[in-house]
Amino acid sequence: MKAVGLVGWRGMVGSVLMQRMRDENDFALIEPVFFSTSNAGGAAPWWAQGAGPLQNAFDIEALKKLPIIVTAQGGDYTSEVYPKLRAAGWDGIWIDAASTLRMKDDAIIVLDPVNRHVIDEALKKGVKNYIGGNCTVSCMLMGLGGLFEHGLIDWMTSMTYQAASGGGAQHMRELLTQFGLLNATVSGLLADPASAILEIDRTVLAKQQDASLPQEHFGVPLAGNLIPWIDKDLGNGISREEWKGGAETNKILGRGEGFGSSPIPIDGLCVRIGAMRCHSQALTIKLKKDVPLDEIEGMLRENNQWAKVVPNTREASMESLTPVAVTGTLDIPVGRMRKLAMGPEYLSAFTVGDQLLWGAAEPLRRMLRIALG
Ligand code: HSE
Repeated sequence: MKAVGLVGWRGMVGSVLMQRMRDENDFALIEPVFFSTSNAGGAAPWWAQGAGPLQNAFDIEALKKLPIIVTAQGGDYTSEVYPKLRAAGWDGIWIDAASTLRMKDDAIIVLDPVNRHVIDEALKKGVKNYIGGNCTVSCMLMGLGGLFEHGLIDWMTSMTYQAASGGGAQHMRELLTQFGLLNATVSGLLADPASAILEIDRTVLAKQQDASLPQEHFGVPLAGNLIPWIDKDLGNGISREEWKGGAETNKILGRGEGFGSSPIPIDGLCVRIGAMRCHSQALTIKLKKDVPLDEIEGMLRENNQWAKVVPNTREASMESLTPVAVTGTLDIPVGRMRKLAMGPEYLSAFTVGDQLLWGAAEPLRRMLRIALG
């Protein structure tokens, strides 16, 4: 049985990863060695019977002993520890949720239901770094894998509706705190059926615009609002999150620069909304040819067991195509599919995915299984 180092297992992504690994009995296949950045010597989690005390996550000698390391500790940790570990001659497999190494030539972005062939080829060639993709990209590809597999996408725009969890646990707390404070400020008026809605609206707006409303994580209120910018400003009108959409999708598919085939243009705007942990996306797809809708639906269903076609009706969309319906499941519903007024090659779609599952934890645990052979 291989020893596997686990770093960052207590954070939000790490906790979801641990739960999925327990659900799928992955721990029966490995000897887990738990690391900590703050509590070396502490006890391993109660459910990991037989695991020794927590090791220091900055101890290169301890990390070096492991053939496989899985980390969800975050980008700063990767930037600090990974180069030292390789410089010390470590030759093991590094499986990481952070974006730090994603676009490096010696790293593969893992999403095996979509790019198993890319992963297998890389393992054969001796590639050692396997990195989880951006959550929005992974969820979109799980939904639309069938169209990519059949080479039908000429270009695509993705307009996103991204949940608070993409920012981190503190962002989710901040959103809920804001919701609570906004509600509290008008609770008396809400309780009175005769109160004027415009007074409620004014009072809420005043609270949203009050600098005392907690907003240190998002920078502005998100409750009752939206933020049409996610991540860094690349200085060319593009946010880093938007850049990832095209760059990572093509790399996952093995179509990025340096892969010998032309990238598919994928671009759009990324927007933060007040959902908890599911990212949604409205897609406009220019197909290479006019393909009937029922054939498209068949391709999506056949590509992987998690893509779920939702009939393009009001009832089904409201029932099954929402963050609340999808949270906590591995399903990636794809709905609102119809041919657009621009012509029969123009397809709309809307998809939702739990950004902590397919968007973060699931590709990592599946990659661990692949690496174990
Ligand atoms: N960048 C994503 C977001 C997080 O902010 O929603 C997951 O990649």
